[in-house]
Amino acid sequence: MNRTFIILCVACFAVLWGCAEPPAKKIKIGLSMDSLRVERWQKDRDIFKAEAEKLGAEVIVQSADGDERRQNAQAENMLTQGVDVLVVIPKDSVAAAQIVQAAHAEGIKVIAYDRLIRESEPDLYISFDNEQVGYLQAEYLLRQKPKGNYFLLGGAPTDNNAQLLRKGQLRALQGAIDAGDIRLVAEGKHWAVNWEARDALKKTEQVLTQTNNRIDAVVASNDGTAGGVIQALQGQNLAGKVLVSGQDAELSACQRIVKGTQTMSVYKPIHLIATKAAQAAVALAKGEQIAEVTQTVNNGKVDVPSILLTPIQVDKANLDEVVIKDGFHSREAVYQTE
Ligand code: BGC
Repeated sequence: MNRTFIILCVACFAVLWGCAEPPAKKIKIGLSMDSLRVERWQKDRDIFKAEAEKLGAEVIVQSADGDERRQNAQAENMLTQGVDVLVVIPKDSVAAAQIVQAAHAEGIKVIAYDRLIRESEPDLYISFDNEQVGYLQAEYLLRQKPKGNYFLLGGAPTDNNAQLLRKGQLRALQGAIDAGDIRLVAEGKHWAVNWEARDALKKTEQVLTQTNNRIDAVVASNDGTAGGVIQALQGQNLAGKVLVSGQDAELSACQRIVKGTQTMSVYKPIHLIATKAAQAAVALAKGEQIAEVTQTVNNGKVDVPSILLTPIQVDKANLDEVVIKDGFHSREAVYQTE
């Protein structure tokens, strides 16, 4: 028997052995979303799905349309459908603890996507540094207006991110508050229910009335609510005169930045969080470790293994460089004149 013959036999055997193995079961991922109302979430969904499918997995997506009870029921349903891993963007950071418990009872791992799930033991938290987002919002406005009346308009109080943003905003402003340069109007206590632009509009109108229009800056926590704030300012001929922050670099916000009615936004590259989360979901389903975990974040119960990505301040000067160059929006769309 010559060497070539032996090698050939071994190779044939290996091929046949390979064929005899049952085909690998396709990994099934459940993506449970709070809602799709804010522009970014459609990108999150599409990029997440495309990446997971590229890795050979199947994705079931459910959106709860802003209803935490519906979200819990949808998550239970996905568990019944036999998902191998659950990825959750919680409507309510506390109510979603139930989802983690239900999944773990069946040995299914859970990733908290963009928003932390509290009082439970999620297997991974992947987000941007949200406290830093808040810091960047307020820090930018403070540089433009170091003295004056500031209105802090938070996001949905049920969203852990809204709390982290507020923490970062106050960190940026505290020195100026203590020095008496910045005064928080409406006691800084306003939150926009469900992150709704309509509620932001209403609350800004109330604060404008209460203060006799004496507001110099509104620290709006995202672009959706910034839209409501700016509408209220327009009603008083104050749009472009009062500083307004935002977050997400939504198309309409970028257009407002060009126009000068919104001062800045915070860009968070969605393609990064969505692809990394999809890769992590597939890895967890296979029982693998997530190499990229660099830190932990305490959620009131445990230190959750976390990946926190870096947010970027954007204004008129760097919109092209940051948002358009990254392919987030086209130049034509951003600079479109009505
Ligand atoms: C996200 C923001 C988003 C907001 C409203 C937050 O948790 O981090 O990007 O604008 O929810 O959907």
